[in-house]
Amino acid sequence: MSDGHDRRINPIKRLHFEKLSPLCPVCRTAGRESPLKIGAVLKEGKDTITEGVLVCSNSSCLSEYPVLDGIPILVANLRTYIAQNFLPILCRDDLSETMESLLGDCFGPGSAFDSQRQYLSTYAFDHYGDLDPEEPAPSSAPPGSVLNLLREGLQVAGHAQRGPVIDIGCAVGRTSFELGKALDEIVLGIDLNFGMLKTAAAILEKGCLSYPRRRGGIAFERRRFPVSFDKAEKVDFWVCDATALPFAEGTFSAGVSLNVLDCVWSPYDYLREISRILMPGGNAVLSTPYDWTANATPVEAWLGGHSQRSEHKGSSPDVLRSLLSGGLHPHAVEALELISEKDVPWTLRLHDRSIMEYLVHLMVIRKKHGE
Ligand SMILES: C[S@@+](CC[C@H](N)C(=O)[O-])C[C@H]1O[C@@H](n2cnc3c(N)ncnc32)[C@H](O)[C@@H]1O
Repeated sequence: MSDGHDRRINPIKRLHFEKLSPLCPVCRTAGRESPLKIGAVLKEGKDTITEGVLVCSNSSCLSEYPVLDGIPILVANLRTYIAQNFLPILCRDDLSETMESLLGDCFGPGSAFDSQRQYLSTYAFDHYGDLDPEEPAPSSAPPGSVLNLLREGLQVAGHAQRGPVIDIGCAVGRTSFELGKALDEIVLGIDLNFGMLKTAAAILEKGCLSYPRRRGGIAFERRRFPVSFDKAEKVDFWVCDATALPFAEGTFSAGVSLNVLDCVWSPYDYLREISRILMPGGNAVLSTPYDWTANATPVEAWLGGHSQRSEHKGSSPDVLRSLLSGGLHPHAVEALELISEKDVPWTLRLHDRSIMEYLVHLMVIRKKHGE
């Protein structure tokens, strides 16, 4: 919650780098565990690096990873990532609303610029709309839907053990800030969308949220308001791939990953990675609407949603339950067990006259001891 106090902190925090000891993503794909070290600090604040280079410590690799706007980009295929994300990486955020709207009209609907503004509009509204003084009185689709999922999940998951917490697919970061506040642990929010993480990191840097709120079509209004959170110094945001996390086994005491399972290209690798990076006994809160699309996940990798003539009749929750029950499924994740599950509504605002309502499968899972 915003408490009106000014606590500005610049990412990337050396605290997170030291405690989480990230591994080189390139070496990880080759089956090696090589810690990253700080290669160059180009711009820094107190205990933070705003621009710099992280380097693989393995002398036969020496891969470099940039820290941009305080956000380290730790993915194995860096060249592809940078090429595909040049817009949010290089995009300026100092334009007036008039110029932004003129450029938006030129880029047009369906452009990368338009898609990025739509994502920011939808997720920044849901994550922070409750703190926006300009937001109209509660509507039929008020913001804070994801916070409700987090609350429901944490009620069951509790805080079983101490240690760093990961928020996988954190988008613009509200759930990471709430975790920092509720658990008083080091929290790392990770996502692949640089523009969304830049919005989250700007809250750390400037104590302010700025986002384009879609009215309709390609008409957006820029919203800017102060936002600050207790324990924000415990939170940081990194670009990492949920299906190939650059951390050693058992790094995190707990995890949260809301509405991400149906967005990754390999839900199997995603579940395996959650199982790998959790400490034994560690809980994770997961939710998903199973809103499969072939753009995000190849049909062969969907959990259910196809092959309705099979044992599970195409039911996604049944396939997921079977993966987590250590059964005969070839992709069973033996080390994880399902602790609780329920269906909870999750609502997203698309524009002034459109909302999307899901019923998500909210689960608490646990990494078994001795696995
Ligand atoms: C549907 S959004 C959910 C965001 C947020 N957790 C929430 O519920 O409001 C899915 C998020 O997962 C991220 N994502 C998709 N694939 C990913 C991957 N392989 N690694 C990390 N994040 C990923 C997207 O960029 C997006 O921010």
